[in-house]
Amino acid sequence: MKKKIYNKISKSFIRNLINITNLSDLINKSIPLKKRGKYYVSCCPFHNEKTPSFTVNNEKQFYYCFGCNIYGNALDFLMEYEKFTFVESIEELSLINNLKIIYKFNKKQNKYKITNKKNLYNILEKIKNLYHKNLFEKNGYKALDYLKKRGINEYTIKKFSLGFSIFKKNNILKIFGYNEKKREILKKTGMIIINGDNAYDRFIYRIMFPIMDKNNRTIGFGGRVLNNNLPKYLNSPETEIFHKNQILYGLYKLNKKKIEYILVVEGYFDYLILNQFGINYVVSSLGTSISTYHIQLLFKITKIIIFCYDGDNAGYKAAWNSLKKSISYLQDDKQIKFVFLPYNEDPDILIIKEGKEKFQNRIDNAKSFSDFLFEKISFKLNLNNISDKIKLSIDALNIISKIPGYFLKINLRKLLSIKIGLIDETQLNYWVKKKNKINNLNKYSTIKKTNMRNIISLLLQNPKLSKFIPSINKLEIIEKDYPGLNIFINLLNIINKNPNINTGQLLEIYRNKESYKIIKSLLKINIKTFDNKLIEKNFLNNIINFLILIIKKKIKKKITKFENNNLSLKEKKKINLLNNIIINIYNI
Ligand code: UTP
Ligand code: MN
Repeated sequence: MKKKIYNKISKSFIRNLINITNLSDLINKSIPLKKRGKYYVSCCPFHNEKTPSFTVNNEKQFYYCFGCNIYGNALDFLMEYEKFTFVESIEELSLINNLKIIYKFNKKQNKYKITNKKNLYNILEKIKNLYHKNLFEKNGYKALDYLKKRGINEYTIKKFSLGFSIFKKNNILKIFGYNEKKREILKKTGMIIINGDNAYDRFIYRIMFPIMDKNNRTIGFGGRVLNNNLPKYLNSPETEIFHKNQILYGLYKLNKKKIEYILVVEGYFDYLILNQFGINYVVSSLGTSISTYHIQLLFKITKIIIFCYDGDNAGYKAAWNSLKKSISYLQDDKQIKFVFLPYNEDPDILIIKEGKEKFQNRIDNAKSFSDFLFEKISFKLNLNNISDKIKLSIDALNIISKIPGYFLKINLRKLLSIKIGLIDETQLNYWVKKKNKINNLNKYSTIKKTNMRNIISLLLQNPKLSKFIPSINKLEIIEKDYPGLNIFINLLNIINKNPNINTGQLLEIYRNKESYKIIKSLLKINIKTFDNKLIEKNFLNNIINFLILIIKKKIKKKITKFENNNLSLKEKKKINLLNNIIINIYNI
């Protein structure tokens, strides 16, 4: 099914799409990149590391990680990172570049439905604007008043496009759902609910918080009642573009370049008020418990996550849950901390009450991971008692053994030994049941290099090198069954037809072709050389060695044939020609 849809999208359109996409801009929206010479670098989002080995090359429209060997073009990035399907990735790139997808056949022939997210984004944008406008009109004054009472100022209202869904039945449905097609789109955005023949607005008489994605597009809303009605908050349902477990409110308003830590709070108002007080490094989990997806997302842009919870039982529970979710991501340079607020205080109310400085103090004095860990697992234990010591040790080691950070691990073991009165912490080894799983990061074995493989891989990475290759009709005199020759000639043909093609685009041409796997594995050889002169030299050497190899083979054949007196004039000519090619190349 997927393949068929793909075939209907024009391939030249896809290639153009990759060509016009600024790869570093695209990736920078998810991971902060630093410019380093011709490349952009960052810590790899696909494996854990401390020093950056993820490189993005705009010229080649190609990214590559020296640590885990992952690589690809813009579409691959969206598929690998955002977990989009191929078609979704094309759609996303088209939207970002403001292009309409071009199909191979005309639309009527196209039986396969492509979701048209653009319509969803457009309508949500209009709804956001309408809600925002409502706030400043006559029937919105109550909402504006409510916001002001909660301490939100006009600047914040505008900055976050807060709004109001007025008390009017089916307002959105009437304005935006005036025909069948529009209603269908509205339904897909989750802004109306259709129940049998009835359709109605999801949000009525609520303060509206638009939720944005990294491209600053509205993807959904949260809505709060103005009074004590229930439910207090209502959110957009899961839609094609709104995935609750992946969202952190405010994540894309962060200035990713300067982040020292990120504070995680629970509510919309907490987020907005902290922001208003100039505490910028905040996201809100919107009441749902934090997911491992969230943690990974946050650790890609910061080294320290500080969870901020209520000091009551529920807050303590939530903190413990966040700790458990984070354990497997605690590298030596990745930390979590905890701020526990006084009983019954929310961040928004507290900061208004005590001011920024005191609140900032709480953040600066956040409880460390190890303090919280031992506090929690030794709660109610009496460490003069052996069975309690054992309990503590087992609980602690169960957690410690899951931590990937080496030094963090030793330090925690040390702490544990002190707590239970062990002199020699290596004694703890007897307690550890399971060994940590070995990190199988380097499972990507490199394939053996041969002349032909070198040539193809260098050519894939640097299509311009084709100028050093003798013309194809001359090459055809080489034995047809030479391993890899078909792929090589095919690649050369593509490059000759598209002289300005780059690696990213080449990859695209091969996707879905039989040779895609081979091409992908070949691409990785020689990928670590960046010096152009060296690349050229390497390439020429390989071409020459390859031709010599061929000639040697031919000559061997010739000798056996000669001995049999069987050599034709045509064969003699071929060998001469090969000789000439070599001489030519040596003269370049
Ligand atoms: P809280 O119940 O702690 O509310 O929910 P709050 O943020 O303090 O709300 P205010 O200050 O009274 O306005 C925390 C978050 O959980 C989500 C909302 O995102 C809320 O901000 N939530 C809460 C819901 O989604 N639905 C609900 O019914 C309640
Ligand atoms: Mn609150």
